Amino acid sequence: MIRLEYGCALSEIELDSVIPLLKEAHSKLLMKRDSKEVGFIDLPFEPVEEIRKLAEEKRKHTDALVLVGIGGSSLGAECLIHALDKAENFYVLDNVDPYKVASVLDRIDPKRTCFNVVSKSGGTTETIVNFMAVLEVLKRSMPWDEAKRNIVITTDPEKGLLREIAQREGIASLPVPPNVGGRFSVLSPVGLFPAAYMGVDLDALLMGAKKAVDWCMCESLEKNPAWLIAALHYLHAIRGKNIAVMMPYCERLSLFVSWWRQLWAESLGKDGKGQTPVKAMGTVDQHSQIQLYNDGPKDKLITFIVVEDFGRDVKLHNHLGIADFHYLNGKTLSQVMYASYLGTASALAKNKVPFITVKLDRIDEAHLGALFMVYEFATAISGYLYDINPFDQPGVEEGKRLTHGLLGREGYEKKREEALSLASTCSKCLIERRL
Ligand code: PA5
Repeated sequence: MIRLEYGCALSEIELDSVIPLLKEAHSKLLMKRDSKEVGFIDLPFEPVEEIRKLAEEKRKHTDALVLVGIGGSSLGAECLIHALDKAENFYVLDNVDPYKVASVLDRIDPKRTCFNVVSKSGGTTETIVNFMAVLEVLKRSMPWDEAKRNIVITTDPEKGLLREIAQREGIASLPVPPNVGGRFSVLSPVGLFPAAYMGVDLDALLMGAKKAVDWCMCESLEKNPAWLIAALHYLHAIRGKNIAVMMPYCERLSLFVSWWRQLWAESLGKDGKGQTPVKAMGTVDQHSQIQLYNDGPKDKLITFIVVEDFGRDVKLHNHLGIADFHYLNGKTLSQVMYASYLGTASALAKNKVPFITVKLDRIDEAHLGALFMVYEFATAISGYLYDINPFDQPGVEEGKRLTHGLLGREGYEKKREEALSLASTCSKCLIERRL
């Protein structure tokens, strides 16, 4: 079960005022789906046998997984695998931090490791250079014909340089549906192959997502969680709440927030519009950011995520022998967690800071599948409420082109000049102190 609660500020009349806009946004999204321009809604209905078989086959001769990919090509899988506590022997090479890459490659045994290289475009600099680093250790440790068996490439079914490499070298590959953008691709082979390899139950995950598609197709603010999330964020954004904070009271959802942050920022930050997504964690950020949320500028809408059953619990006994702590005797950590959430939410309410609470029974595949789908839907609907295209990312693409130019890629000579001239004028050194 997923339950949404809302605290303070907007009246029912204000909420109802957005229903005509929601209906319009909803039919825009469905038109895009019908014309096959937008594919994320159909992902839970795709057959997954091929993915499962490939994961099983790779599992026979390897026992660790390195995911090489960045942004939408890594965050969903990383979130799933961590949230379900299946991350032993799982590594992600997204950033090109040399210390991190070298340390991961030192730690693994290339002969016993499966490398899943994921890039929809097939040309993202970080992914390509990390793939090169992987190939270096793979080729050093065994003959290429054997090494190839440890690689799975996930990329566009026809286009791009990674597709060319997969075909030329006969490397196992999976398709990224062309009508599914990176940040909407967790339920495609992008997220499903690593998840299957690490032991995630794909059927349960997709069952949760399918259920959520049913909820999100419903044209009712009382029944559709995606509509409610989109409406609340939109109404608050146009009233100056430019910051959307997500604060789960559950450590296993930490990477869910990273996934959402990318989805929200990259989909909605366009044409001078959008809300800045901020990551927080309960209870830790009660001792850091909450001061600002309660007492700083009133520019935030907070989303709490609360979990009913953590799957494990710890009972407390007052071994400290101090009467002042006796009220904690016999309580559990999940009770302390819940009280901390409720205390924080109540303080926010007192300070007239609006918040939404998403309540989950537990963290499992079905709930995560549903959560992914609800937030993808909510993001798409929000995009149309703002009257922007939630599925492109011109700001990301331009940075990629300038980086290609700076690294000397053929065809990007003009971008190199542009980047160099921008770099020489846009910032200058004001201070330098030597150690
Ligand atoms: O959501 C997006 O479109 C981006 O975050 C991409 O996923 C990211 O830039 C990686 O792109 P690619 O999969 O083409 O390597």
